[in-house]
Amino acid sequence: MPNENFKRQFPRPKDLTPLLQFQLPTIHRKRRRLEKALTIWDLREIAKRRTPKGPFDYTDGAAETEVSLERSRQAFLDIEFQPNILQDVSKIDMSRKTLGETFALPFGIAPTGFTRMMHSEGERAGARAAEKFGIPFTLSTLGTTTIEDVVAAAPNGTNWFQLYMWKDREGSMALVERAQKMGVKNLMLTVDVPASGYRMRDYRNGLTVPPRLNASTIANALPRPEWIWNFLTTPPISFASLSNWPGTVGELLDYMFDPTMTFEDLKWVRKQWKGTLTIKGIQTLEDAKRCAKYGVDAVLLSNHGGRQLDRAPVPLHLLGAVRKELKSDLEVHLDTGIMHGADVLAAIAHGAQYTYVGRAYLYGLMAGGQEGVERALEIMKTQMARSMKLLGVSSLDELEPKHAKFLATHQGLGSLPK
Ligand code: GLV
Repeated sequence: MPNENFKRQFPRPKDLTPLLQFQLPTIHRKRRRLEKALTIWDLREIAKRRTPKGPFDYTDGAAETEVSLERSRQAFLDIEFQPNILQDVSKIDMSRKTLGETFALPFGIAPTGFTRMMHSEGERAGARAAEKFGIPFTLSTLGTTTIEDVVAAAPNGTNWFQLYMWKDREGSMALVERAQKMGVKNLMLTVDVPASGYRMRDYRNGLTVPPRLNASTIANALPRPEWIWNFLTTPPISFASLSNWPGTVGELLDYMFDPTMTFEDLKWVRKQWKGTLTIKGIQTLEDAKRCAKYGVDAVLLSNHGGRQLDRAPVPLHLLGAVRKELKSDLEVHLDTGIMHGADVLAAIAHGAQYTYVGRAYLYGLMAGGQEGVERALEIMKTQMARSMKLLGVSSLDELEPKHAKFLATHQGLGSLPK
């Protein structure tokens, strides 16, 4: 019996054409791989497949129970956004001024150590991607590319330098002088490393820098031929600022960092450095207020991506109080746990002038070098633009604490989208 609810007809080629949307084979396999990643978590999955366990875990892991990182990420998920309806959001402005410069986006690239170990393109890839997106790139003291090479790779970008005060003060200050000579305008002094955090994955993996090739690391690297090929055919991984180290990363950090550093040293650094000074690793309101007395330009609330003290304060939870208590000419910045563009909006709503991503960019790097970093930045930018529109705000200055409410009942751990 014919179906009376519709009339059948033979398909005509003209009608079929719009339905047959074969995807043209993308010549570029890497691009196709990266385009499939819709979130930073997706990039992490690709990164995990393509990077040997030692470097991947060094990046992905945190200290001891790793709860400092998990809680910091969870805090962003525990935000309940409060949108305003019927706002004209046809044009949105994501630019942000910080430390005297205006950037296209309100997040920059945080300093990360040993970056050429994650992917041979290393710091250059990060600096070039940052230059392309109009955001700052920060080179770590433990970087594997020199400041001169970073500036040469991204001469029109904003390149900052992060300083660890080592036991060898002269050595640390020589690095600072080089940075100054290369036109670096902002120095990020990290102050949360009187000792290295206990990153157990590194101990369990026996990670050294550069990774030692033994039976188990080779077995693990073999299914990741691109990494191993790049590793063997590019200049050996060496530190830009010190010679190679035979022990684990934790042992290296313990050897390097200076446990005698105090506020007196902060005074000294402030005197030496002519540009803006950001203090990274503030974890209490008391310390934020203390830093304010030393002529710093920004305090960066951070628990070092959960890599130092276990069960450390969550920067997002600290932010509102710090912003309220400090004078408005002192900028408050934030890192740790940012995995989505909307996380950045939550931080801005609670008073962050600027934010940074570390792992989010490294997952991109490990997934596909510079193109992977660009994919990570693109994902975050798109997420941010969409979230702003859905929130009903067209510029970042419109964001207020009321837009990002903390849920009264935290969901607890275990709900991260792993
Ligand atoms: C280095 O800065 C690290 O946190 O691993």
